[in-house]
Amino acid sequence: MLKTATFKKGKVTFSDTGKGRTVVLLHGFLGSHQIWEQTIINLSKSYRVIAIDLPGHGGTDNFGYVHTMELIAKCVKKVLEHLKLKRYVLIGHSMGGYAALAFADLFPDDIRGICLYHSSAYADSEEKKHDRTRSVKVVKSNHKIYASEVIRNLFASKNLKYLKKELAFASKIASKMGKRGIVASLEGMKDRIDRRIILSLVEYPIMMVIGEHDNILPAAQLLEQSEKIQNKQILYLEHDGHMGFLESPKESNKALRKFLRLCFS
Ligand code: MLT
Repeated sequence: MLKTATFKKGKVTFSDTGKGRTVVLLHGFLGSHQIWEQTIINLSKSYRVIAIDLPGHGGTDNFGYVHTMELIAKCVKKVLEHLKLKRYVLIGHSMGGYAALAFADLFPDDIRGICLYHSSAYADSEEKKHDRTRSVKVVKSNHKIYASEVIRNLFASKNLKYLKKELAFASKIASKMGKRGIVASLEGMKDRIDRRIILSLVEYPIMMVIGEHDNILPAAQLLEQSEKIQNKQILYLEHDGHMGFLESPKESNKALRKFLRLCFS
């Protein structure tokens, strides 16, 4: 069911499906709660699944010109407080994972586990920061073309010919993004700090989903940071890029369920 909450006098939209322990889904850049459709159907058979439209995405407003990972985390916290939820697992795809780590930093108490779904604890490299600045210029001149190119690049190139429906689905969600929301996310991701310390300090389980053909976050870099995690689960998707929940939904959901059982045990 779609619901709304208020954050900084603006609207936050989220879906709330199923009953049981709480799992919170945070989508990536240019996504919305809808991108998790298959994951929600699967997990909500056993869990209460909250999938939030992050600032500037889906049905959620923009909040200023830069959506820092801390601002996104505060927005997520507001929704969870609104629902009076205590004890949850956060599953963050890419940018949603950066925000989950900011959440872990700001609000450590109620987390039972974090899944970094094609996501990273590193800050942007200098090269990546320059790319973001260039992207902001491109977005300002034609954000629709920018969004469609970004989405293609999220899939492993060899999967594009089989996954036309999935590509069209993700592209449709991205095409609804406004210019301001895209720029605010790019600036927020560019500004984010390194949070490897969280990986090495927390005791609850952390899962990393890694795609061998990820064009955004190289598998080797993700494997390297996973070494720091005390209580870790790894799902290595050898045929996929950055979109495991669309490229290999069955395998991904099975691994998520195993991870959730561990978190709540
Ligand atoms: C995402 O999928 O959220 C973004 O591509 C992540 C990024 O650009 O770092």
